Amino acid sequence: MTAPALRPVTEDDLPMLRRFAVEPGLIGNDWLGFRDAGAQDRRFALDGYLGTDNGRLIVQVRNQATGFVTWSAHSYGGSAGFWEIGIVLLPEWRGQGIGWRAQALLCDYLFLHTPAQRIQAGTQPENVAEQRSLVKAGFLLEGTIRAAEFRAGQWRDGLLYSRLRTDPSVAV
Ligand SMILES: CC(C)(COP(=O)(O)OP(=O)(O)OC[C@H]1O[C@@H](n2cnc3c(N)ncnc32)[C@H](O)[C@@H]1OP(=O)(O)O)[C@@H](O)C(=O)NCCC(=O)NCCS
Repeated sequence: MTAPALRPVTEDDLPMLRRFAVEPGLIGNDWLGFRDAGAQDRRFALDGYLGTDNGRLIVQVRNQATGFVTWSAHSYGGSAGFWEIGIVLLPEWRGQGIGWRAQALLCDYLFLHTPAQRIQAGTQPENVAEQRSLVKAGFLLEGTIRAAEFRAGQWRDGLLYSRLRTDPSVAV
């Protein structure tokens, strides 16, 4: 397995990004209905997906775009900010050891370039691949968030994970 690398979004990635907005289920359990596919082009034109409060990087393997990772700024109060991260790989790239490595690389990137103490990630109880990926990427399970999201016709619980700057590092 070739280790993935993270790189900025380019114009050539926009067709792939548009697919996730309009192909039901391509994004996995996080499918929330059709979205404005043109938003991808507008965001790319604005800042190349590298904003101050959120961003996106492409997960690349052997010169191929396999999916992307995201991060966004949140706060539990005062100035105690943290990042929440997310990931989606194209179906043909799943289950090959790319997802957990990409999330570990994103943590390294965020801890290197920002002073964040905490990175969190949520997933669904049925998403075993993401649960295992997060643990392999150095995250610890914090607990269940009741009625965390409205998805596929009903309110559903979520699982919350976190990795702190002071947690053990992970070799990718
Ligand atoms: C979730 C996702 C990012 C995981 O990345 P991945 O590259 O498929 O996973 P990896 O190959 O890195 O595997 C990581 C761990 O998960 C396990 N795993 C992978 N796919 C699995 C599956 N379908 N069922 C159960 N376990 C699975 C692997 O065996 C490995 O654990 P192990 O080494 O302890 O055995 C990827 O599958 C994906 O993009 N899914 C759709 C989008 C999504 O669900 N994103 C997260 C939203 S919260």
